[in-house]
Amino acid sequence: MCGIVGYIGTQNSTPLLIEGLMRLEYRGYDSAGVAVMTAGKGSGQGSGKGSGRGSGQGSDKVSEPAEITTVRRVGRVRDLAAAVPKRLNGTAGIGHTRWATHGPATEPNAHPHASADGRISVVHNGIIDNATVLRARLEQDGVPLASDTDTEVIAHLIGRSSADTLEAAVLEALTKIEGTYAIAVLDTAHPDRIVVARNGSPLILGVGAKEMFIASDVSALVRHTTSVIHLHDGELASVTATGYRTFTRDSDDTGRVPVEIDVEAGDLELAGYAHYMAKEIHEQPDAAAAVMRGRIDERFGTARLDGLNLGPRELRAFRRVKILGCGSAYYVGQMGAAMIEELARIPADAEPASEFRYRNPIIEPDTLYVVVSQSGETADTAFAVAEVKRKGGTVLGVVNVVGSTIAREVDGGIYLHAGPEVAVASTKALTTMAIAFALLALLLGRVRDLSVADGQRIIAGLRRIPEQIREILAGEAALADVAKSLAEAQSCFFIGRVRGYPVAREGAQKLKEVSYIHAEAYQTSELKHGPLALISPEMPTIALIPDDELTDRNLAAAEQVLARRGPLVVITNPGVDVAGLGAQGGVEHVVPTVVVPKNEPELDPILLTIPLQVIAYHAALNRGLDIDKPRNLAKSVTVE
Ligand code: F6R
Repeated sequence: MCGIVGYIGTQNSTPLLIEGLMRLEYRGYDSAGVAVMTAGKGSGQGSGKGSGRGSGQGSDKVSEPAEITTVRRVGRVRDLAAAVPKRLNGTAGIGHTRWATHGPATEPNAHPHASADGRISVVHNGIIDNATVLRARLEQDGVPLASDTDTEVIAHLIGRSSADTLEAAVLEALTKIEGTYAIAVLDTAHPDRIVVARNGSPLILGVGAKEMFIASDVSALVRHTTSVIHLHDGELASVTATGYRTFTRDSDDTGRVPVEIDVEAGDLELAGYAHYMAKEIHEQPDAAAAVMRGRIDERFGTARLDGLNLGPRELRAFRRVKILGCGSAYYVGQMGAAMIEELARIPADAEPASEFRYRNPIIEPDTLYVVVSQSGETADTAFAVAEVKRKGGTVLGVVNVVGSTIAREVDGGIYLHAGPEVAVASTKALTTMAIAFALLALLLGRVRDLSVADGQRIIAGLRRIPEQIREILAGEAALADVAKSLAEAQSCFFIGRVRGYPVAREGAQKLKEVSYIHAEAYQTSELKHGPLALISPEMPTIALIPDDELTDRNLAAAEQVLARRGPLVVITNPGVDVAGLGAQGGVEHVVPTVVVPKNEPELDPILLTIPLQVIAYHAALNRGLDIDKPRNLAKSVTVE
């Protein structure tokens, strides 16, 4: 998704903007640009509208006319960096990575966008809903439009304001636009500041020494400062080299103070791995330990989740649990719902957050709503939170990014402590989400009818997970071989039953995201009701056959695949007899088999997911694809 960076201070902003944009690359984008304010430095009174071309170098003593130099390119940030003139030097600037929404990925559509007179420059994340009407009005007024974008109207509206200050001009423009936005605005008439505003799209200020940073994501500024302000929806800020003022759309000061974030620059490095996806897969043993740390009560066989802000009496009062998330987070929500039903014996289900608000959901006071999101910025999930709250429901968050929009909006929750996740394909965040749901299920169970002994059994299982993940990852070479056998496939099936079905869905999701192999997940029981028609020597099936009460039924389904000469890969536990598969039909089959360490049945899905991540990674590697930035995908989907 689109990314914003900004800088104002004493250094040349150009390399800082480019570096910030490179840090945002993982989010997905199709074009990028920067706008740098040159000259007029410190004067606070540039040449105003239609400023002439300045010398390119500012001076503290002489008030030179300010100008904005804009460079934009379709493609990678490195292409933009190559196009930026070496002499481009200015102490204030804004930059953007664009994910096309209004109009194709072209240079005129790339941000920053300028007002007709070139005085104003704007970068924008989000969507302006009434852009078509505003564009028509501007055209009627004779304003030449240079792009197909919604963002351009913001630049024109600010540029056409007769307000004395940039802050007032931005406020005036915001009264005319409807939609979501995070914006950063430069003005040659006020070269000593950048004005920013947020509504529905994340925006963060970073406080340095005589310098300020602006970003839509902390990863873009964490190398320079860990002292940040997460702006709230409806908030603006006027940012200068030496400070900032935050205020509402009614111009009331909000007096926001910075908080320290616990992300270290090193967390965002590849650390010797070829890809972030590989790094993050291998970080899972530590991430699994981190999400449990301090949250397990061995003696009483329960979990301590103080962040929920709900006591035992309140937890007991809930009669249902509804989990909401998008994509892989939704699939983990399905795993979580199964754990809650099994351990707490209360009805629980998961639903895509992206659909939720469109069906005018009935929000019940005795249902506990839980949203799940790595980024905490997924627009569809944030809208689901708003829908629950609007109708008076209680909503908790299972979130990775501390201080993110969703984390702030929910009534309580569980932070994942997985560390920053950079690869578009989520891995370690999902594993920690599943563990967080196991903890929640344990707690909900123990305030109901789950025995201490059963609680302690689950805890013992949870404690084994980090080591068992290590064991699975030690078998990476064999998983790479399995991936090789899939790399030529056009299409494949993932099948799993009951607890295994969300695992199958996530396995299919991961494979298609990074390797572009078409993959579909089915409940194993559904195979014979339709999909079996597609089984052929060209259609591999990855079957989840854990050692549980359904093993025999799963083996029987695998036989049906083999009988139709479908290539089969089995993901199973020690002791499950897969050697005899295929024998019934008298056909010799070598079935690639991945043996995953056994845990408690309720927790097995967490481990079964891990080899599927590794297989997806190696399938993409075999195909020579851009694993960390799959085509058409963004790390966090901050627009609807
Ligand atoms: C899949 C993936 C996406 C996200 C989904 C939700 O690998 O990463 O399906 O899970 O977009 O994102 P978050 O968790 O940030 O809300």
